[in-house]
Amino acid sequence: MIILANRMELFAEHFFAGLNIRVAALQAQGCDVIRLDEGSPDLPPAPHIIDALSRAASRPDTHSYQPHHGFTELRQAWAGMYQRLYGVALDPESEVLPLLGSKEGIFHLPLAFVEPGSVVLVPNPGYITYTRGARLAGGEPYYLPLLPERGFLPDLQAVPPEIVQRARLLWLNYPSNPTAAIASLDFFAEAVAFAREYNLLLCHDAAYSQVTYDGYRAPSLLEVPGAKEVCVEFNTLSKSHNMAGWRAAALIGNAAVIKAMYTLKTNVDSGYFRPVMEAAVAAMTGDQTWLQARNDTYCQRRNVVLKTLQRLGLLVDSPRASLYVWFSIPQGQTSAAFAAALLERAHVSLTPGSVFGSEGEGYIRLSVTAPTERVEEAMQRLERAFRA
Ligand SMILES: Cc1ncc(COP(=O)(O)O)c(C=O)c1O
Repeated sequence: MIILANRMELFAEHFFAGLNIRVAALQAQGCDVIRLDEGSPDLPPAPHIIDALSRAASRPDTHSYQPHHGFTELRQAWAGMYQRLYGVALDPESEVLPLLGSKEGIFHLPLAFVEPGSVVLVPNPGYITYTRGARLAGGEPYYLPLLPERGFLPDLQAVPPEIVQRARLLWLNYPSNPTAAIASLDFFAEAVAFAREYNLLLCHDAAYSQVTYDGYRAPSLLEVPGAKEVCVEFNTLSKSHNMAGWRAAALIGNAAVIKAMYTLKTNVDSGYFRPVMEAAVAAMTGDQTWLQARNDTYCQRRNVVLKTLQRLGLLVDSPRASLYVWFSIPQGQTSAAFAAALLERAHVSLTPGSVFGSEGEGYIRLSVTAPTERVEEAMQRLERAFRA
């Protein structure tokens, strides 16, 4: 008999695994399902990035294992991007570590910094991997409510002293998944001071930092003077350069944290495919003007969604970043029931807010990652279903 480890109780199957099965069943019945659930960019990266990949893949010298910390030009490309976008100077040798997508690093990092029984401060609602990684290391997630009245920023001073004293890590994520909220540099400075006061490692997940609208520029947490003493930032080309399937991300900041993660990762993986690394260099060092056009496309879709939601009287803030619109549904039904009914009746797939934590109940996350005409069609279906 195969005996499953008790630990598996901590890792429920991800919501999207079950959703994919339900959507596939509907499609098998001939239903035209519009998916605005997952945050996976639908548009391709720019041609020069794909060219770099295919040129590198055609060479005979690119198919072996790669160094765990990538090759020098890759780390330099991350450092160069931070200098260009944020004015943050990084040592590519000690302050940048490539990851196989940021999810991998987010899941593994607590193994290096969290003792069994210690606390990890996690936003609620938030990206579920913060909780799963904390649990992998035997840590206890303590949830920081993100409430609309505080602009979906956590009230760090409200964390009870006995919790802070046991805490090792603090997770933040702005622009935020799922709330699409943004944070100012002042808030980041407050968080850095909090981390310093309580001897926490502050981990900022900047996955959506280059998906911005209406002239907004998302700051890096590392812009806060002295942030590198207590912080690392996760960054990824998944959303910034439409490269979600490529798995090219990096951990950036505090050199001691980078060193520990490097040591850990020498046991976990064997680097990643050199052509992907070369394409990542092309993505970060080559032409960037296409990103504005891409963001304009997302913005156009966002506006289609906002118009419909506002017409239906659903409460919604106009997001200035991320791929998401986060809106509250009428009282009296759960977000899971709302999303399930919409999928069954209108064949529009959205993500219930409760997937991201208890404070997500009453909300729905809509991702603008489908062609504009499909978003328009989805909104017509939503409106018909809602009025019916
Ligand atoms: C907040 C957040 N962090 C990290 C990730 C993972 O990104 P990657 O593709 O780099 O693993 C996602 C993906 O949806 C995300 O929403």
